[in-house]
Amino acid sequence: MADSSWKPKRVSGGTVDSNTSAFKVELSIQSSEAKKALEELVSQNENFQLKDSNDAASPSLLILELQENPEETFSVIRDLVKVARGTEIFLTAPKLDSAILLEAMRAGAKEFLAQPIQEKEVEDALSRFQERAVATPGKGEDIKKEGKVLAFFGGKGGVGTTCIAVNTAAALMSLPSKPRVALVDVNQHGGDLPLYLDIQPSHSFRDIAADPSRVDQAFLFRILTKYESGLQVLASGYDDLSTGRLSPDCVEATLRMLQVNFDYVVMDCGHVLDLTTKKALELASLIMVTSTLMVPVVHRTKRILELLRGSGFPQSKLRLIMNRFLSGEKDVLAETEEILKQKAHWLVPNDYPSVSHSVNSGKPLIETAPKTAVGKSYMDFAHSFDEQSDKSKSKSSVLGWLSPFKSKKTQPA
Ligand SMILES: Nc1ncnc2c1ncn2[C@@H]1O[C@H](COP(=O)(O)OP(=O)(O)OP(=O)(O)O)[C@@H](O)[C@H]1O
Ligand SMILES: [Mg+2]
Repeated sequence: MADSSWKPKRVSGGTVDSNTSAFKVELSIQSSEAKKALEELVSQNENFQLKDSNDAASPSLLILELQENPEETFSVIRDLVKVARGTEIFLTAPKLDSAILLEAMRAGAKEFLAQPIQEKEVEDALSRFQERAVATPGKGEDIKKEGKVLAFFGGKGGVGTTCIAVNTAAALMSLPSKPRVALVDVNQHGGDLPLYLDIQPSHSFRDIAADPSRVDQAFLFRILTKYESGLQVLASGYDDLSTGRLSPDCVEATLRMLQVNFDYVVMDCGHVLDLTTKKALELASLIMVTSTLMVPVVHRTKRILELLRGSGFPQSKLRLIMNRFLSGEKDVLAETEEILKQKAHWLVPNDYPSVSHSVNSGKPLIETAPKTAVGKSYMDFAHSFDEQSDKSKSKSSVLGWLSPFKSKKTQPA
């Protein structure tokens, strides 16, 4: 029997309520009877607290119901265990045969609660959870740190924003520090990002649109699609020809949840500055405006930068990315930086054959052309975000491939 006077001494995983120091519990359960019983039992236990639906922080404990297709549930458990490192998972189902139990255990579930829910079984499981929490102090500390949100926004359509977002996310994934990376398509006018990784997501932002308040951790992991490298992708589900719009609320709820589960959230924000995109940019740690040295592109990029500055986006958050840069364009770049009143932060080498081959084969450049200047440039860019990386300490490495003709003007702002 659980000792109800027992107080958690140390937070293990997920978050505890700072007022009550109770472990936060999220229930992802369809069966109303089981849900009601668990809600009651969790609320009765003073060491635990049901997580508020508006609370984006990771729960300490997630009680997940086995879905009709058990393999789907196991896949969600596996992803959660890997990504949401501080959250422990309990599985509940009307019938738990030994094969399912074994598979769930292998996936990473810690306890099993048979339905109909038994009070004693739940109390014992919660009590064992608390014992594990005390035994592994500090285990979940990393998840309290919110991830970096990197927004890529096109100075104009077609400049390579999607290529840049996809390849940056893929390069971040391959860093030695093995960060958890999510790639999100916030472009509701194009929404073609999955094609760049040759994946066919069955879910997208559309699944959240009906009720953004239901984005909890379990739901989020059900709608993400995993690329083979482990990169988790959230598709837009919208394009110019589709009905409906992606709402700012939907983007906000999703990004807040992603931020607590991933070290990096990379967003393709398209090139249209509507309210939804603005919301995404507001939530970003850095806004990377992508451009090229083509006159019409520079013209629109200038307007975009002015609009962003005029809308209160701090200059310290803005970065200029010059795509398709050719080594002979040093003087044009210097002139353009003056026109834009913004130094280029990163120059992506022009290499149409390598990039189009990568796009057409649905694989990022780090897989199809890691040794080319453009492939290496993405790796250097990824290293520049990684605090532990030696390469990030050397500023010149970001633009290293340019060294023979680099001038002060091309240094990151
Ligand atoms: N570094 C590069 N060198 C050469 N070509 C590139 C480079 N990066 C991207 N491209 C090319 O630019 C084209 C457009 O890329 P992409 O689809 O990423 O642009 P976008 O800005 O996302 O377009 P849209 O506005 O339609 O969403 C692609 O055909 C791609 O091959
Ligand atoms: Mg695009």
